[in-house]
Amino acid sequence: MTSTEQDRPAVALHDVGKRFPGVVAVSGVTLAIPPGEVHVFAGENGAGKSTLMKLIAQVEQPSSGRIELDGVPVAYQGPGAARRLGVVMVHQEFALAPDLSVAENLFIGHEPGRGGWISRAEERRAARELLGHVGLDIDPGRRVALLSTAEQQRVELAKALTVQAKVLILDEPTASLTEREAEELFGIVRELTARGIAVLYISHRLDEIFEIGDRVTVMRDGAVVATRPVTELDEDRLVQLMVGRDVENLYPRTHNKPGPVRLEVRGLTRDDAVRDVSFEVRAGEIVGLAGLVGAGRTELARAVFGAELPDAGTIALDGKRLRIRGPSDAIAAGIGYLTESRKTDGLALPLGVDKNITLAKLPMRAGLIDLAAERKIAERERDGLRIRVPWVGRPVRTLSGGNQQKVILARWLETGAEVLFFDEPGRGMDVGAKSEMFQQMDSLAARGKAVVFISSYLPELLNMCDRILVMRGGRITGEVARAEFSEERVVALATGARNVENGGNHD
Ligand SMILES: Nc1ncnc2c1ncn2[C@@H]1O[C@H](COP(=O)(O)OP(=O)(O)OP(=O)(O)O)[C@@H](O)[C@H]1O
Ligand SMILES: [Mg+2]
Repeated sequence: MTSTEQDRPAVALHDVGKRFPGVVAVSGVTLAIPPGEVHVFAGENGAGKSTLMKLIAQVEQPSSGRIELDGVPVAYQGPGAARRLGVVMVHQEFALAPDLSVAENLFIGHEPGRGGWISRAEERRAARELLGHVGLDIDPGRRVALLSTAEQQRVELAKALTVQAKVLILDEPTASLTEREAEELFGIVRELTARGIAVLYISHRLDEIFEIGDRVTVMRDGAVVATRPVTELDEDRLVQLMVGRDVENLYPRTHNKPGPVRLEVRGLTRDDAVRDVSFEVRAGEIVGLAGLVGAGRTELARAVFGAELPDAGTIALDGKRLRIRGPSDAIAAGIGYLTESRKTDGLALPLGVDKNITLAKLPMRAGLIDLAAERKIAERERDGLRIRVPWVGRPVRTLSGGNQQKVILARWLETGAEVLFFDEPGRGMDVGAKSEMFQQMDSLAARGKAVVFISSYLPELLNMCDRILVMRGGRITGEVARAEFSEERVVALATGARNVENGGNHD
């Protein structure tokens, strides 16, 4: 490719590599991304996507190779320097200071007032204008801690606009957004690309890759497998490139005849979040919980698990009423809960993969932790879920995002819980890992456990569940049996659309 003024790439990588002790995270990446392109990075968990982005944003120093911005080679000088050159990275865990105001967060390091003197009024005015560009109508004096996830992300995007951004990096930006928030984000991304900003976008969601991407680079084991315009790919081909094989059946489910009732919840109530909820789950069943974000699904799971104490209601397991005063009671009784916010709720980051997996149920021998057994358990889970880690004693902190999630999943699989709540378990996992996770859910059910599956992605529920309970405003507003499964029916119940009761019945 010749480079004239206008087709000079916003970012160019030449044989870029990054080694960590014992791991080659990125190797031999050569790639050029023009201004105004949305370039998607896809690949299995641990493929090196986040690390590559950190090299471009100078969060990490490359071990080899050369990076050019606008045709000029850049030396590694840290994230501040990269920002000044117009590279902005929105990390998956946002880097905002929670106790500062929105305006303060926007202008940290480069306050609008000249000569070291900051005018509050000026700062606020500038903040409002920037927030307007990302469709956020909030008081710039508001503390960041009080904002929703989507709002915090918007502030991050607005922050990108405070510098003359040329390259914007988004690492799994829709992972914790609702469908509508995701659509709004796409709108903002399109506006930014129209202004000539190159957007580097990491995603595991096939649907959005095709919606927002111009080109896709697929990575595997740190290297680039292929770079293609999205128009030359379809989902099957993309999956094949990512995992290096066909994923025959993403949703492996064998429907067994449900056994006796295992979990029975009656009249469960907590504030306005959970209102008079009753349901049961039988042995061998996977019961889905559908609903819009905020419908009360997570709150319901937390109330059953004892993470929040209910105001009223009863919970019984195998016909025996339980007294749950906290999560440890729930665990002791045989109830497990894979939370949706795994980063904050679950992992001991400095500890090894092995310790993290056995945290809820330590293998003991003669009063001591059985270390050999612990390693065996961890190795079995590592192989089963394909957790990408050179040895199981390695701190969880050094694992990629998706692999950290697999560690928590492994922990719950190992507790031997009789009832398991999975709250958005597939988030951030690659397709291959997801299919393995679903296989495990299926086998839990086949062994007579009771599974409750919360997901905002309806195809997952429709393919994996025996029944779907739909929640709205803290209540269960309907139940859909497998024979009547349809996206329309679930959506209608979740949003409260009227005409569904007779309209959705096809047989
Ligand atoms: N600070 C670190 N120390 C040691 N190893 C690391 C570190 N950061 C990343 N790695 C390793 O580098 C490899 C690539 O990780 P990376 O986070 O780039 O993957 P990813 O493609 O973003 O995966 P995911 O989809 O799970 O987020 C992994 O094997 C990971 O364990
Ligand atoms: Mg990552």
